[in-house]
Amino acid sequence: MYYINQNVKNLKRIFDQNSRKEYLRLDLNENPGGLPQSFIKQTLTEITPRFLSEYPETLEFSESLAKFLGINKENICLVNGSAEGIRYIIEAFTEPGGGIVGVTPTYAMFEVYSEMYGRKFIPVTYTDDLKMPAERIIDKLDTDIQLLILVNPNNPVGNTYTDEEFEMILSKANELEITVLIDEAYHYFYPKTFMKYAFNNRHILVTRTFSKLFSLAGARLGYVVGCPEEIEVVQKLCTPHNVNAFAELFAQRIIETPGMIDDLISKHNEGRRYLKKKLSEHGYDYEGDYGNFIFIKPNTDAKDLVEKMKNAHILIKEYDGVGNLGKCIRVTTGEKKYMKQFLDALIKLDK
Ligand SMILES: Cc1ncc(COP(=O)(O)O)c(C=O)c1O
Repeated sequence: MYYINQNVKNLKRIFDQNSRKEYLRLDLNENPGGLPQSFIKQTLTEITPRFLSEYPETLEFSESLAKFLGINKENICLVNGSAEGIRYIIEAFTEPGGGIVGVTPTYAMFEVYSEMYGRKFIPVTYTDDLKMPAERIIDKLDTDIQLLILVNPNNPVGNTYTDEEFEMILSKANELEITVLIDEAYHYFYPKTFMKYAFNNRHILVTRTFSKLFSLAGARLGYVVGCPEEIEVVQKLCTPHNVNAFAELFAQRIIETPGMIDDLISKHNEGRRYLKKKLSEHGYDYEGDYGNFIFIKPNTDAKDLVEKMKNAHILIKEYDGVGNLGKCIRVTTGEKKYMKQFLDALIKLDK
């Protein structure tokens, strides 16, 4: 009998990420400047015919990443971008009809995967002043919930959690036997991490990515951190050789190059400081203290502005109804020269 999975058939996906080459891309929180060209050139000299012809190995890189993070390789599962890890966590730790709680707005794939697998996504909305008190999350937790997703800091709002708030939420999740996924895609832009909980406790998993600060979105590399028993389950879901050799090589060279991460952070921070200062000088309201993105309340209609910016070869994203900011735009922050290019266009077009 012919069969088609109705969850998949009815799924709404947005594949708007092509034809972006000609643009300054400030819409998906990539690093617009990327890694230094000299570093890329040097790393490419290591590519040999064998490097390309053989299936990639993960042991060496897993060990080195584990050492870099101060954990064991058994605590890590490498994935083809953290989006893949998130999918496996949903697949492994929830069942059809099971509840998944997450704050909204957030990274779109949590909801997409929930629908794909027939899970029920229960959104937690922000207060009008874009706060996310722990009680608001706790209120949504009950015995039907199997997974709680916390993004630290959340994309796009940029909110974070104190230790106290996190422990309050965790204690309720533990009481109700709810698995907790902490998405730390924007770690390094914001140094506070809850990773220690993941390798010290069962039922807590952290996802991280090399796509953001580490500037390898094009190579696809992420990882899941957890206790060995749960990491083994995630690993079983991976397609064979899911992580490519290029990504591993570049990631390896990034983590072992002295000063590389600090340089990436300081270039980003300089650009971000510049943008915020200029936005204030021009009287703009903006939100979001953490991450490589910022919400800006435009003077004109956000949707129209996105189009005008696109015509000026700059991609940004619009959001509907974000607390008191209402309709606004989200802009990826990065090196100063890109922030200047964006700002010049904003001042010209947002009137
Ligand atoms: C919060 C969050 N998690 C995960 C991802 C996915 O990152 P990747 O699959 O490139 O690792 C993104 C991408 O924008 C994100 O914003």
